[in-house]
Amino acid sequence: MNNTILVAGSINMDLVIKVRSIPKPGETVSGGTFYRAYGGKGANQAVTVSRLGEECYFIGRVGKDVFGEELKENLLKNKVNIDYLVEDKDNPTGIAFIMVDNTGENSIVVAPGANSFLSQDNVRRCLPVISKARVLLTQLEIPVETVSFSLELAKKYDIVTILNPAPAKEIDPHILSLADIVTPNESELKTLTGIEPREERDVIRAGRKLLEYGVEIVVVTLGSKGAMMIERDSELYVPAIKVSAVDTTGAGDVFNGALAVRLADGDPVERALKYAVVSAGISVTRRGAQDSIPTMEEVDQFIREEMIEL
Ligand code: ATP
Ligand code: RIB
Repeated sequence: MNNTILVAGSINMDLVIKVRSIPKPGETVSGGTFYRAYGGKGANQAVTVSRLGEECYFIGRVGKDVFGEELKENLLKNKVNIDYLVEDKDNPTGIAFIMVDNTGENSIVVAPGANSFLSQDNVRRCLPVISKARVLLTQLEIPVETVSFSLELAKKYDIVTILNPAPAKEIDPHILSLADIVTPNESELKTLTGIEPREERDVIRAGRKLLEYGVEIVVVTLGSKGAMMIERDSELYVPAIKVSAVDTTGAGDVFNGALAVRLADGDPVERALKYAVVSAGISVTRRGAQDSIPTMEEVDQFIREEMIEL
């Protein structure tokens, strides 16, 4: 290990209510329990990278407020480098209101605050470390121009680029073409391609459509079903591990962080994919986004005990 990974993305304070069922519009469901959790897709991915043993620089933006302070402290506690985390004096730290039901499924609304102002200049500040990085990982909870700029910059330095196109958003295919690997979940895949992934063959057809934009590898996460990798001439399905889900918030982020870690370490994609499925599967058995992320030792132990072949 000892590879460097850059994560450019969002950071939020998650305000969560665990409740028996998620209310429909106009409905009130009471009897829930409340907790706060450290979140934001970018920060969740950064903490994953660090807990799984690689050096991580997080490029992001928080407000100059109590939530921003706490989130920064938690990144430091998790040994994520925050030299390129900007403090925004004019906009608050991003907040996510999350409802989690009995099955671990969630509904999320986000007030992005400072995340919406993460600029190209903010990303450019990472130039002193970019040449030593192996992978740049980014998502769509920051301005799309910043995503595009980050990917272009990484390409210039010949770094592997991973775009997690979450949350679902229609984007210019040119941005997709800047990513070596694109990792949508099923609803993001539908937004990007217009194809409803009802069956495995739909997932493959939609994945191939993304390859036509110049992406090398598409990895679709399928929740409790696992994940599917689609390349030009082949595809590989990896089933999820069997666990009892408590809270799936951030499962996709753990998956992406783990994938980045194993690729940075030189694993073939098939192996990296299996490792990511295990890491994300462990995370859904615990509540919270960053709090639920396993360490490298925990993932290794699970793989040993369950005799999983990578
Ligand atoms: P989120 O938005 O909640 O972070 P996502 O929709 O981006 O998640 P998913 O496809 O739901 O991502 O999950 C990512 C990965 O997590 C899956 O590919 C799978 O490996 C693992 N996972 C998710 N849910 C479960 C589950 N119930 N049991 C086991 N593994 C799961
Ligand atoms: O992917 C999960 C994350 O999405 C949460 O932590 C929340 O902050 C939202 O950004």
